[in-house]
Amino acid sequence: MLNGEKMLFSGMQATGRLTIGNYIGALRNWVTLSDEYTCLFSVVDEHSITVRQDPAELRSRARALLSLYIAAGLDPEKNIIYYQSHVSAHAELAWILNCYTYMGELQRMTQFKDKSAKHADNINAGLFTYPVLMAADILLYQTDVVPVGSDQLQHLELARDIAIRFNNVYGDVFTVPEPYVGKVGAKIQSLQDPLKKMSKSDENENASIYLTDDRDTVLRKFKRAVTDNEACVRYSEAQPGIRNLITIYSAVTGKTPEEVEKEFAGRGYGEFKLAVGEAVADTLAPIQKKQAELLADKAYLDGIIKTNAERAEHLAIKTLRKVQKKVGFPERPR
Ligand code: TYM
Repeated sequence: MLNGEKMLFSGMQATGRLTIGNYIGALRNWVTLSDEYTCLFSVVDEHSITVRQDPAELRSRARALLSLYIAAGLDPEKNIIYYQSHVSAHAELAWILNCYTYMGELQRMTQFKDKSAKHADNINAGLFTYPVLMAADILLYQTDVVPVGSDQLQHLELARDIAIRFNNVYGDVFTVPEPYVGKVGAKIQSLQDPLKKMSKSDENENASIYLTDDRDTVLRKFKRAVTDNEACVRYSEAQPGIRNLITIYSAVTGKTPEEVEKEFAGRGYGEFKLAVGEAVADTLAPIQKKQAELLADKAYLDGIIKTNAERAEHLAIKTLRKVQKKVGFPERPR
């Protein structure tokens, strides 16, 4: 039923509105890789509460995200698509791994530094140990490969360090995971400040293309995208705005940056921005339509949620039991 011998794990937070950065940097690659691996794609709702959430909103965003995975092309029978909170082994393994992670390692995490600056009134312990839960997500499934955008590489490096440290003490318990970062689009930048990452929490509406944006909104935002005065569509460090637009266009059309440069040689930025907007809108429209259909079919979605959580749990429990035994917890009498 599942696709390959090697395991793949990845996840997204159901916090805020997803952007085309999430799609290009992660989701799109998941779809491509899913034929080759046995895959788990989790809606990591436990990670979301490190920042205060409205409970009803979190629940509905989580459901929308799970349907988005399917709408983007991930088959829920060939892949395991589930909520992290439905498999309690994530939190249990995270506790154990906390005891094998150093404060100094967590203090170095740039995401922790950024988020604690942004939420200075709520620097909770969960925000600090967040990367340990992420390590547990990955290590629980003996994951070989983790497709992510480049902003998650530091967390992945920590997951590898924890796995190696644990294995050094107890033998080969965990597979040491490798990151997978796409060739184009590992970091999509803001449309308003191309030196900054496109983010779901940007205060400027025009900075991000949300996966829920309709065609007119997408076209308008690209039209307003910040560029430069060079008047040349060139993939160059010196033109970060245009470079970002080329990256986005390449990612959604499958053309290489060189092909894009050729296609728009001698043409104006207005024309180029319109083409990028149309290509993005054409990519999003069928996904949005499918997602709406899925959300309308409660029984189908509930069925997927239930069976997939059971499939994930079945795999997770094997690793968890092994780890519990290794660290010395008493065995359960049969
Ligand atoms: P999250 O929810 O912030 O982002 C989900 C994925 O989208 C990628 N991404 C981007 N890629 C390119 N350009 C951008 N502007 C951009 N913004 C986001 C992220 O790199 C990520 O791959 N901690 C993780 C979620 C997580 C996870 C895991 C991931 C929890 N457990 C285990 C992999 C494996 C996070 O907050 O991603």
